[in-house]
Amino acid sequence: MKYINIASVLGLLAHTVYGAAIPMNVEERQIQPISTVTGSAGTSYIYALASPIPANIASQLAAAVSAVPTSTIGVLPDGGVQTSTPVVEEVPVASDPAPRPYTGGYRNVGYYGTWYIYARNFKPSDIIASQWTHMLAGFWDINASGEIKPKDSWSDIEITTLGSASTAQGAVNGIFEQMFRLKNENRNLKIMLSVGGWLATSEGQWGIALGTPEKRNTFARSAARTVIDLGLDGIDFDWEYPRNDVETAAHVDTLRLLRQELDAAGNTLGVDRPLLLSMAAPIGPHFITTINIPEINKYVDFFNLMAYDMGGAGFSKVSTHAANFFMATDGSTEFCFVNGFEMYLAAGVPASKLNVLGPIYGHSFAGTDGPGTPFTGAGFSTWGETDVADYSLIPLGDDNMLFEDEKIMAAWTYNKFTRQMISFDTPKIVRLKTQYLMSRGVGGIGFFATNADKWTTADNLVNTALETLGGISVLEQVDNHVAYKESKYPNIRVYDGVKITPGKVLIGASTP
Ligand SMILES: *[C@@H]1O[C@H](CO)[C@@H](O)[C@H](O)[C@H]1NC(C)=O
Repeated sequence: MKYINIASVLGLLAHTVYGAAIPMNVEERQIQPISTVTGSAGTSYIYALASPIPANIASQLAAAVSAVPTSTIGVLPDGGVQTSTPVVEEVPVASDPAPRPYTGGYRNVGYYGTWYIYARNFKPSDIIASQWTHMLAGFWDINASGEIKPKDSWSDIEITTLGSASTAQGAVNGIFEQMFRLKNENRNLKIMLSVGGWLATSEGQWGIALGTPEKRNTFARSAARTVIDLGLDGIDFDWEYPRNDVETAAHVDTLRLLRQELDAAGNTLGVDRPLLLSMAAPIGPHFITTINIPEINKYVDFFNLMAYDMGGAGFSKVSTHAANFFMATDGSTEFCFVNGFEMYLAAGVPASKLNVLGPIYGHSFAGTDGPGTPFTGAGFSTWGETDVADYSLIPLGDDNMLFEDEKIMAAWTYNKFTRQMISFDTPKIVRLKTQYLMSRGVGGIGFFATNADKWTTADNLVNTALETLGGISVLEQVDNHVAYKESKYPNIRVYDGVKITPGKVLIGASTP
């Protein structure tokens, strides 16, 4: 007896073929069974396909079924004889996406950490502004009244040695003065303020900081006020993460109020172009289920999916990949980007509202035999971080063997002498990921740790992604705001026009 069971789980398609392995020809690729299970009906061959399920796959499955003599087939769950439990595996596999024709502008969103000005010596003037449509600078905090405030006011609004600094009475200086200069010179670059981050606010947990309607109101009003004062284009809200129903409701309510206050503040700018609201969005299934995606979707302009930190020495069970798009079949992965991505789509978010952010850094594991094997702790790192290393500083060559797995879209180095593994993205992996994201119709890409790239075109991850998209000419073209008559700072109310001296430049042929 042979029969086929087709089940759709969480946007992923899996099916079992009992009795015989049927070759599946899907999107010009032979799909092989990923595993077999022997039950009372015989052996079942388990396949996994990415979703959404294209119509042609459904018809190919039907064709595969009809290729087996009908006298021996039953199709479940509608009919047939089932003598063993159908097996469903939630394992997406990489497809070979054919990039869609370009239909709209892509966003490219970067995070600028305001601590980059210290040991890393990476200033706002080092940002290659033409590469980005949105730069999210942060992070800011919340005080006990609910007002937003810089975590480091020296770097953010005080220091006068980052470049030309206004000496006017009451002027704002620091990183945000430089950002204002940058956006005046690069009108396609929107600067947003990131509030929150991985660590809880310095004055208490998120649930407490935004635990009452009064505090949420104060927060939203002070955030919108700060956008006007600093001459920004919007707020990126990074509550990582609500932990229970009460916090989930507070999270949504905060976004609702932020939208309301930003719209009101935007109306004072005299240009019919709303201020922006985005959210740092988790990719781990557990965290995704703690946020109310359909409600959030009403308020944000876009989600920034954090397609990184899926593995790390601080929390992973075995040495693993930190930014893989697909699951490995050998047990070396616990999470993958695509599973989380499907959850946002299933919750009704259009792909065009999703920006998918990748890492320009790696996670290291020490005392290991490589992916999927135990480790003893954190390995190589830079800037005193625990297991995190800048992409530009990850050792390559000599005994550091480079591996690139195109199927799961992950790269790593392994050094058998020091027994260290570092998971990170290479240009080849970034190219594959970008092609995949284009095939899924996402509205944007992005990166974390904009300071940590390599500054030659071939090795620069951002440049690699942009070239894959089709060059900077396919980036979204929407002017930023520059006229802030109601800012409390004189040098934001009236721009002095003094030019920034660019720091970093990309070496090699420029992006087309
Ligand atoms: C929070 O910040 C605002 C603005 O700086 C200030 O007026 C308020 O007193 C602060 N609240 C607390 C509890 O520190």
